[in-house]
Amino acid sequence: MLSKICCVWIFGKVDYTIHTTVCSTKDYLTQDYGLLGGMMEILGIDIGGSGIKGAPVKTRTGTFLADRYRIATPEGARPGEVAKVVKKLAKHFAWTGPIGCCFPASIQHGVARTAANVDKSWIGTNIEHLFAGITGCPVRVLNDADAAGLAEMRFGAGKGVGGLVLIVTIGTGLGTALFTDGVLVPNTELGHIEMNGQDAELQAADSARKREDLSWEVWARRFDQYLQTMKALLWPDLIILGGGASKKLEKFRCYLTVDTPIVPAATLNDAGIIGAALAAEPLKIGS
Ligand code: BGC
Repeated sequence: MLSKICCVWIFGKVDYTIHTTVCSTKDYLTQDYGLLGGMMEILGIDIGGSGIKGAPVKTRTGTFLADRYRIATPEGARPGEVAKVVKKLAKHFAWTGPIGCCFPASIQHGVARTAANVDKSWIGTNIEHLFAGITGCPVRVLNDADAAGLAEMRFGAGKGVGGLVLIVTIGTGLGTALFTDGVLVPNTELGHIEMNGQDAELQAADSARKREDLSWEVWARRFDQYLQTMKALLWPDLIILGGGASKKLEKFRCYLTVDTPIVPAATLNDAGIIGAALAAEPLKIGS
């Protein structure tokens, strides 16, 4: 055990080959995970509709080791074009270690299964293989709301909160992340439940407010209906609001009638990058 701890301290910014040979894969993924997970430096990348941004993250603290770098999302944002941007980001940071990426779709074992607000050609794409192939780095990909949730639960408004926590990200899409006693139930996609006979996202996302030029009050009443539905279905102990619109919570909090405690996300702009990096912690063995 001592030798394992030492190798991590000594090699700090992790030589993956040394880790793999000195310690067994199982050790790293099981009993040592909590301890060693905190030692990682991982490039977190947040792939969004308008920008793809990344920064190397120290996962123990959730802090950036260098300034965030952003590249505009290419027109059409098809897999091959986005992969080139991911490569540019890795090159910008001269990165050779693990990469965590978050993406606005359900991601099942690295494969995109949905494409509500992205090009349909993503469906069925193994994003982890695509990005690992182009960067030469081990890559983990997860849903963007799940990533934001991980960041909030580790460092933000959900830190230390047990029971059922629902994170709702309000942006172009309506993203959700569900945690039970701190454990993520991935790919919940609850922004797409039916509400008034329509996809809830089309009515209650921030894009609906902008598209229909709604006042905060009119939009908030829709969003409140959405939260009431979430409450009736899930009975969360806490709801954390993230995404762009959550920065304006003071403009619409007064219209929310749901009696579940509601708090704004604390990690906001950086949540995707931080959460993506956290999700890639198991890649420390170079898997
Ligand atoms: C997508 C989700 C995503 C959310 C926020 C929705 O349209 O289906 O996967 O998390 O938007 O980007």
